[in-house]
Amino acid sequence: MCGIVGYTGPREAYPIVIKGLKRLEYRGYDSTGVALLNGGLKVYKKKGRVADLEEFVVGADLHSHIGIGHTRWATHGEPNDRNAHPHTSASGKLAMIHNGIIENYAQIKKDLSKKGYSFTSDTDTEVLLNFIEDIKKNNECNLEEAVRIALKRITGAYCILLIDQDDPQTIIAARKGSPLVIGVGKGEHFLGSDASPMLEYTKEVVYVNDYELAIVRPDELILKNLGNETITPFITKLDMELAAIEKGGYDHFMLKEIFEQPSTIHDCLRGRLDAAHGIIRLSGVQNNIDAFKNAKRIMIVACGTSWHAGLVAEYIIEELCRIPVEVEYASEFRYRNPVINKGDIIIAISQSGETADTLVAIEKAKEQGAIIFGIVNAVGSSIARISHGGAYTHAGPEIGVASTKAFTGQLAVLTMMALKIAKENGTIPDERYTKLLFELESIPEKVEALLANATAIKVIAEKYKGANDALFLGRGYNFPIALEGALKLKEISYIHAEGYPAAEMKHGPIALVTETLPVVFVATKDSYHEKIVSNIQEIKARKGKVIAIITEGDEVIPGLADDVFFVPPADEIMAPMLSVIPLQLLSYYVGIAKGVDVDKPRNLAKSVTVE
Ligand code: AGP
Ligand code: GLU
Repeated sequence: MCGIVGYTGPREAYPIVIKGLKRLEYRGYDSTGVALLNGGLKVYKKKGRVADLEEFVVGADLHSHIGIGHTRWATHGEPNDRNAHPHTSASGKLAMIHNGIIENYAQIKKDLSKKGYSFTSDTDTEVLLNFIEDIKKNNECNLEEAVRIALKRITGAYCILLIDQDDPQTIIAARKGSPLVIGVGKGEHFLGSDASPMLEYTKEVVYVNDYELAIVRPDELILKNLGNETITPFITKLDMELAAIEKGGYDHFMLKEIFEQPSTIHDCLRGRLDAAHGIIRLSGVQNNIDAFKNAKRIMIVACGTSWHAGLVAEYIIEELCRIPVEVEYASEFRYRNPVINKGDIIIAISQSGETADTLVAIEKAKEQGAIIFGIVNAVGSSIARISHGGAYTHAGPEIGVASTKAFTGQLAVLTMMALKIAKENGTIPDERYTKLLFELESIPEKVEALLANATAIKVIAEKYKGANDALFLGRGYNFPIALEGALKLKEISYIHAEGYPAAEMKHGPIALVTETLPVVFVATKDSYHEKIVSNIQEIKARKGKVIAIITEGDEVIPGLADDVFFVPPADEIMAPMLSVIPLQLLSYYVGIAKGVDVDKPRNLAKSVTVE
């Protein structure tokens, strides 16, 4: 996910593009750049924020009536100057920016290299650009046709803007899976990942659909499908304010990111999970597969929500791979002089990839010979860079302080990892392996389905928003989700909440139960179900209020609980990716009801880069 801006018309392009990029920085940035046409192609790009780019171009001749600009959220290649967009083609005549991931770029790059192409960056984007130029050259067709041919041959997601110094008024744009909006002005056109860059110039916009291609000139907008059939552009009159657009129409980034989870989990699995062929492609694991196969134990270090993902992974890896797993708070691990043997595997889980405690913990472990595997969302972040291998969660920028979509992305990666290692170790029967792959593949649509009932959680939140305390209980795979639900409620609504293994209640915490104490049970249908029913009865016997997250079709718990929320059936190993979502929503709606700034709760930071 990144920011894309384009302009062609009578005005100076640079000021429009750079201002548009600033409006899109919320979409994630690690590097930025612009391409202009005045005489020749001029590209200015560098690592850092838009303000750094502005400084960089001081003194340059920025005169141009056409321009494209990009804020990058890296997926292929470190965030640095050479990987920043726009990229220029081998001929130096074309410049392109791209939002998305080209899945089959490696094979295309190999084929182009054999033809003598060289590349200045590590990105999939530069490969696509030279693929287009190669097609144009070999097929002796125009640029528009070359783009159409190339897009029919790639897999993955894209929104691209392309300019050609031999056609200095035209921007060619196309999208599949990444957003593109075209603003219609008088004798001018604006392009953007959303409408925020164009809002001050025009409220008339065209939302480009997947598999559509646009040829944009100052006084012409031609829309076609990849079959070269012309489509009449549908013009929408915008009535949203800028702030609403940045949040995609949601009231808060946190809610937007909760609702992005069907697509972010899909993006995380894309190009990696191939259930039909029983394949999981995780190069980070593959490149270290012997270490994983011979591991005597696996340690997981993380903080906060990421630590909860590590607890889920402990249950999954031990169940499927039969490798002992220890999960540690990074802040404890780094100081307690842990016993680390050469060849030990340490998995570091981090959304930001910059959490100081996690970073130092793995630096120390690395010095003692451990193999570090990073599961990170921010590409090129410190933890990603010092790890021996890793896997990105591809959840896109997570703006809300509370981690939501990154957490389910972590669970998706950890589940793929465990399945891949179990398959390699021969510790999982073929039938169960296949079943779990298809089960994992179905998670995005199950998340979509349960999000459709989000208002049911809003009703529950209204009912309990006055609570001073809350308990979250779960067993097995759902125990870490009880902890996560408690953390979410604490950090978003400021209500004191504790998570416990449900069976642990009788060892003390049950003394807290009164008729005003809401107790949230994460009780999806699994091998612990009967036991957790008994735990619910223990609470009800003491007049506690029970809210239960349960599986559709559960006929026992609705008769016991005061409030229930249903999630679709799923194998217990996958259940956490579903059962966590109503708890994310619960914290959000209670926080809203209490007037909390849910995107920036008090005392918290999105990335804790200090001890
Ligand atoms: C999660 O909602 C919190 N904001 C916090 O616990 C967070 O998970 C923790 O700081 C770890 O951050 P990281 O994943 O970026 O390392
Ligand atoms: N995959 C491209 C890259 O890594 C684009 C990433 C983005 O959407 O910003 O450069």
